[in-house]
Formats: sequence, structure tokens, C-alpha cells
Amino acid sequence: MNQTKNALSNLFGLALVGCSLIGKTEAAEENQFQTFPSYKNVGYDQPYRPKFHFTSLKNWINDPNGMVYYDGEYHLFFQHNPLGMGWGNMTWGHAISTDMVHWTQQPHKILPFGNGYPFSGTGLVDHNNSLGKQVGDTKTLVFMYSYALDDRPRFGVLPPPKETNYHQAIAYSTDKGRTLRLLNDGGPVIPNQGREVDPKGTERDPKIFWHEPSRKWVAILWLGEASGGKVRFFNSDDLQHWTPVSDITRKWAHECFDLVELNVLDEAGKPLGEKKWLIYDGSLDYEVGSFDGKEFKAEQPVKNDKLGDWNAAQTFNNSPDGRTVIIGWLVKGNFYRKKMPFTEQLSFPATLQLRKIGTEYQLCRWPIKEIESLRSKSWSLPKDLSATEANAKLAAITPECFDLTVEFQPEGEKDVVLSLRGSVLTYSPAKKSIHFIGSESAANKAASVGKSAEEIKKLGISEYVMPNALRNGSVKLRILVDRGSFEIFVNDGETVLTHSVISELDNKSISITGDAVIKSAEIHELKSSWDER
Ligand code: FRU
Repeated sequence: MNQTKNALSNLFGLALVGCSLIGKTEAAEENQFQTFPSYKNVGYDQPYRPKFHFTSLKNWINDPNGMVYYDGEYHLFFQHNPLGMGWGNMTWGHAISTDMVHWTQQPHKILPFGNGYPFSGTGLVDHNNSLGKQVGDTKTLVFMYSYALDDRPRFGVLPPPKETNYHQAIAYSTDKGRTLRLLNDGGPVIPNQGREVDPKGTERDPKIFWHEPSRKWVAILWLGEASGGKVRFFNSDDLQHWTPVSDITRKWAHECFDLVELNVLDEAGKPLGEKKWLIYDGSLDYEVGSFDGKEFKAEQPVKNDKLGDWNAAQTFNNSPDGRTVIIGWLVKGNFYRKKMPFTEQLSFPATLQLRKIGTEYQLCRWPIKEIESLRSKSWSLPKDLSATEANAKLAAITPECFDLTVEFQPEGEKDVVLSLRGSVLTYSPAKKSIHFIGSESAANKAASVGKSAEEIKKLGISEYVMPNALRNGSVKLRILVDRGSFEIFVNDGETVLTHSVISELDNKSISITGDAVIKSAEIHELKSSWDER
């Protein structure tokens, strides 16, 4: 990255004395962060490597970044520490896919420079060459990221800056994402919005997109931990000069904003011929309303669509088929504990839908249909079995990773218990809700008996409740089980739990007990999306 020298001089006004020395430092910096050549001999064949959830060949990842589709390819960038298994040294890692299921990791794209790091951001296709960088017929891909100058410790190996002061910057690619260049050497296109807005200066994670009705580029920026929940909207004609056009203030607002327009569906999933804008943050707090290119106006109070350990989700820009596909960071994968060469993972891509239930808009998620390409073996139980009958059949079904759909009708007061590789889902007829505990938490809970509150806390037990699970007398579940996660979709995705759970290699049992008629059950074993690599 030749940008480093310029970035050093332009951004921080460093005198370029002793150029050869700076040249060497620069090269050392570049070599230090471009560690991808060392990834190639790692492979995907480790016993705990997720089969169909994205992981980096090596090292730490967190937020998905710059998700954009162009010319037959989905680009997935991600926050990546190229030097280790913990958060830090933030770099944009990169992977490309033609189907969002099979990914090929690429060399790291935006490397740390100056005294700072490229934090999260988004990407788009510059369809009308607003940036003026287009080469031939290939549209420019444009990415806006936060340049994080942060003097808190643990940011990485670069010398820390004198004070915390983030700005928003642009990187672009004229060769379909194969190389990214920093615009203006990484200097601000949106400068820091000022200490009066965010005394801590940590404003970050811009979302950018094209708003067709107003024919403007739009950026949305969360204005930091200390801003009291401010989110600022900007407009631009050339992707370089950005004018603030409105603010909203929301107590719930916290990092990684996204704003997308969705078709509204009825309860059964049929289009109502109506569109609404969805705004959400990293914790999947969301509002639904209108957006005119400048101002977002909410039409219902905030709701939340997050259950389990996931964060910082964003959607693909320029989707080719009208779908809005979301991917988030499946927090606390912690694969390093199993001595894997990588740690952390992303959620399986899901379509976002907005359903109108009564007078309320409800966000739903559903795994993309491309998952079917991973099916290696399928089973389907005869209809209307008792739990005992179903259980007898399930005893012979022992897939490692699978996509399970089950519908049961509770018939009494006893809990219905579905056990999947040691993780347990319990339907309570009294509460009409499902309780979930992952296998590791279940083991820790068993071991916690008689321990002090402090010791129990250290064990780290997470349990979740999915409410309102009963619909028209039955419970419908779809569950994706990978080596390191459970993604549970209740009632066609109205409630979703997305959670990291490492299942033990030798436990492949599936069972169901309790008073229920198992109306239907289908299990598809899933092969690894990395097999063909
Ligand atoms: C969310 C986040 C973002 C930030 C990034 C840094 O997980 O904190 O706000 O840009 O991670 O890695």
C-alpha cells in the first residue's frame, strides 16, 4: 500500500525527513499486516471448523463490512486482525462468492495506516461514475469506512495517536474488488463531527447507498458512544463531498447502522404492494417508517430482533434479485479454545422480510435458499407421529451438521423437549415459549449446582427464551446446526435466535420427548461449503 507514506504526511503533517527511513517503515508496516500469503497452507479441514458459516482461514474476525454484489459476485469484507486471535489491528479482510454459500478468501484489503485502523463500513456500486474513477465498462466499487484514531489501549501494534478522533474515509476498486485504493490517501470525506456532538470522538460505521427518488447518494453515521444516541444523515452528488441533511436521536442507537427499503408482506408472506424503510443498529434494535432521501420518520415504536450472540449485521447492497440478505457477526465463537487456527464466525446469510401482523410491522429472517446446495442426505419422518414413535426413528439419524424443520402440536401439560447434539430446546405449554440452552451452557449449568454466585458467573451460562412460539395450535421450528452455532427460526422467522455453540464431536444424537404430535419433521445433512476448495 503506497498510501501509507502519503497518509502519514497528509493526515498528521509529519515532515518527510529521512525518506528512506520512512520508506522502510512503510514497507515493514505493509508486510506486517498483509499476512494472507501465510494463510494458504492452513486449509479448511480442522474438526471444529464451521461447515457452512464463514470463518477466516486464520485469525480473528468480527463485523461484516462492505457487503456488495457486482457482476455475478458477492463481496464480503470483514473486520479482521491479521496478526492474531484477539480483537485488534483492524484490517478489512475479504472473501468473494457467487452464491453466498461458497466463499474464497482474498488478500486483506484495507490495511492499518498512519496511527489508525479501518473500522466498519459499507460498500456500493458507483453506477453513474459519480466518483469519476471508472475504468472501461467496469463500475467502480466504493466503500466508506471509519478511520479509527483511538488512544485507548489494545488497539493494535501501531503507535497510539495523541487523541481519539475518528473520521469517515473512502476506498474504491476499479477491478471488481481485487485491489482497493484509499481516496485522498485515507483523508476524511466526512470529518469528525465535533466534540460537542461526541465528546469521545468515536463516531463510526457509515452506511452508504443510492436513493433513486432524490437521485442522491446517502450516508448514515452513528455519532458515537457519548452522543446520546445521535445518528446523522448526509447527502452527496459525487461521493466525496457530503452535506449533513438531518439528525435523529434515539436512546437505543448503538453502532453499525443500516437503512433499507423493504416490500411489506402479509402474515402469510404475500406481498401487500407496499414498501417501508427499515432502520436498525448493531444490536438489531429497529424502527420502520418512511425515508425521503433526507429524513427518516418512524411509524411505530422501536422493536428488537436480536436473540443470542450476534451483532453488527448489514445487508448486501445492489442485490441482483430484489432480496435483502443480511449477515451478522456471531459473537463469542471462541474457536481458539478448541485450538483452531481461527476464531469467530459470521451468521448464515438470511433474507430480511417485513410482515404486517395486525397493524404492526414485524421483521422476519429466513435462511437463503442457496443452503440447499449443501444437502448431502435427507430424512423425512412419517406424518403425525407421537414423540415416542418419532424418537425411535430419530435414533438412527446422526448427522453432524444439519438443517432441521419440525412442526409439532403440544398435547398436554408436559414440556416438549428437543435435544440436538447436547443442546436443548424446551417448549413449555404453560408459557407457550421455547427455552434454549446450548450444550456447553447445559454442562456448565449441571456443574453449577451448589456453587457460589460468583463461581456460577465465571462458568458463563447463557439461556434464551423465544416467546409466542405457539401458532394455530402448533410450533414450527427451523434449526441450522453447524459445528459452532445454532440458528433457530420460530414461526417462519418471526423470532430468530442466532447463537455460538460448539457441539462436542462425539455427540450426534437427536431426540424429542413430551406430549406432542410430531406433525412433520425433515432433516437435511449439510456438507461443508469448503469441501471443493
Ligand atoms: C462493532 C464495532 C464497530 C467498529 C468495529 C471495530 O462490533 O465495535 O462499531 O467499527 O466493531 O472492529
